[in-house]
Amino acid sequence: MKTDRVAKTALAAGLSASAVVAQSACSTVLVPTYTPPAVASGWQAQLIVGGLTKPRSIEFDSEGNLLVVESGKGVTRITFADNGGTCLTASQSSLLLDDKTLNHGLAVSNDGKTIYASTVEAVFAYDNYDAKAGTVTTQGRSVIANMSNNDLVTRTLLMSKKKDGTLLVSRGSADANAANAQIVSSGLSQIRAFDLTNLTSGSKAYNYNNDGLVLGWGLRNSVGVGEHPVTGGIYAVENSVDGATRDGKDVHENNPGEELNFFGYLNGTTSQTQGKNFGYPHCYAVWDVSEIPDNAGLTVGQQFAIQENSTLSDEICAEKYIAPRLTFPAHYSPLDIKFSSDGATAYITFHGSFDKTNPVGYRLSSVAFNAQTGEPTASADSTSALTDIMTSPNSTACPSGCFRPVGLAWDKAGRLWLTSDTTGEIYVLQQSTSAPSSTASGTIVTPTASAKNAAGLNWSWETKVLGYAAVFVLGAWLL
Ligand SMILES: *[C@@H]1O[C@H](CO)[C@@H](O)[C@H](O)[C@H]1NC(C)=O
Ligand SMILES: *[C@@H]1O[C@H](CO)[C@@H](O)[C@H](O)[C@H]1NC(C)=O
Ligand SMILES: *[C@@H]1O[C@H](CO)[C@@H](O)[C@H](O)[C@H]1NC(C)=O
Ligand SMILES: *[C@@H]1O[C@H](CO)[C@@H](O)[C@H](O)[C@H]1NC(C)=O
Ligand SMILES: *[C@@H]1O[C@H](CO)[C@@H](O)[C@H](O)[C@H]1NC(C)=O
Ligand SMILES: *[C@@H]1O[C@H](CO)[C@@H](O)[C@H](O)[C@H]1NC(C)=O
Repeated sequence: MKTDRVAKTALAAGLSASAVVAQSACSTVLVPTYTPPAVASGWQAQLIVGGLTKPRSIEFDSEGNLLVVESGKGVTRITFADNGGTCLTASQSSLLLDDKTLNHGLAVSNDGKTIYASTVEAVFAYDNYDAKAGTVTTQGRSVIANMSNNDLVTRTLLMSKKKDGTLLVSRGSADANAANAQIVSSGLSQIRAFDLTNLTSGSKAYNYNNDGLVLGWGLRNSVGVGEHPVTGGIYAVENSVDGATRDGKDVHENNPGEELNFFGYLNGTTSQTQGKNFGYPHCYAVWDVSEIPDNAGLTVGQQFAIQENSTLSDEICAEKYIAPRLTFPAHYSPLDIKFSSDGATAYITFHGSFDKTNPVGYRLSSVAFNAQTGEPTASADSTSALTDIMTSPNSTACPSGCFRPVGLAWDKAGRLWLTSDTTGEIYVLQQSTSAPSSTASGTIVTPTASAKNAAGLNWSWETKVLGYAAVFVLGAWLL
């Protein structure tokens, strides 16, 4: 049985169940089919797109159009009529990259002219993207390859803003064969950085397992990767293991914690954590100390050995492996991390647990950072580093009956956009400039009765380019 520690944390953040405020100014308002999320004080959120197929990563192009990976379908480009605030209406939608094998990763070059998208096997570059017309002139060329494995199949992409042309690619474990993650040349369970500036059409693709700079390994599945806008520090959020044991005893209910890890900088300056092993599959971060047998000396955020023997112990975990910078509740499943432009806040999506008997997570939260040092302000043993921004008021309805956050992106107006894959939706959030009162909850915009029927989209699924068409069998989890 799951303890209710997590639910108490959410309540402590001062959220109330859906404060519903009708907004007459916005004539086309979509309404979720489930209990609307609750929004924190000082925030307004609105559902603006529905009917998508597992929307995962999102990016804006140079013209402000939204690009969204629909997993198992391709990359869709959506244009919006922007009525200000959170009042936006999708006005046009087209399938820019028609490729069913694209499943999660998306990045846009800093000049806006190349789109990168990933399958379980490879990263593809699509050249000559015309943001006004919504076209690319080439089929995808493979730029990084040899990444196929079972189980964990997302290949998150992050284009560095600090080091132009450097693409970060995160690849998870083949859980069923976790031992291979202990071999760095397997390419499993790691984040690598690739210099794409010299790769032109016709160049051979990088081999993920041999090429690039290893930023970190021993990572089960670090799906969200972010770059601090001031220092250029690279952080990632880690989906830790399910079903953990310690000396054969089940400790999985509240352990291990999910993680925020630090991977140093891309500018050549060495850091104590870059290129290091972060412990998977032998050492995991403590979330609930009391659940772990033989826990003397363990605190939240330290790593515990799954088995204590002559070659493995908590001490060896501490010596050989890098512990997280922050630890979050077990089973929350963090999938994206995006910093505010001033570097003072990181926003993290939590997809939530997939186990119906144990529904936790399902939220957008923030973590406070020191903008200058690029470090979280909370200490590594903190259990209160997360501030909830948007949550599911009724987790017992999850995972089927609530939003499940995945990708984040900022638009030019400073609004934060968020995908929910299982519900096929996109929300937009805006923080009000006036200081919120400490007790008020925020607003989730829902329609007036007359506006309800006006909602809806005109989907014209126009195929601009026939993408790479190989079919991979995804017997797999899109965590
Ligand atoms: C790309 O070119 C730059 C400048 O010529 C060079 O310093 C760098 O090593 C090259 N990178 C690769 C991966 O070949
Ligand atoms: C893929 O990676 C494996 C393991 O590193 C390596 O043995 C193999 O040669 C690579 N294949 C290609 C096509 O690069
Ligand atoms: C790299 O970035 C870090 C953090 O901003 C900074 O402290 C360091 O001096 C930089 N190194 C170089 C070589 O620019
Ligand atoms: C200690 O436990 C680890 C994890 O189960 C295992 O890989 C290792 O082989 C064990 N060492 C010994 C000496 O039994
Ligand atoms: C929460 O969801 C469960 C399962 O869907 C439902 O039975 C229950 O009535 C809901 N509770 C509230 C307060 O909405
Ligand atoms: C939907 O799109 C079609 C084709 O582009 C257009 O003819 C039609 O007017 C649009 N309908 C609405 C309601 O926008």
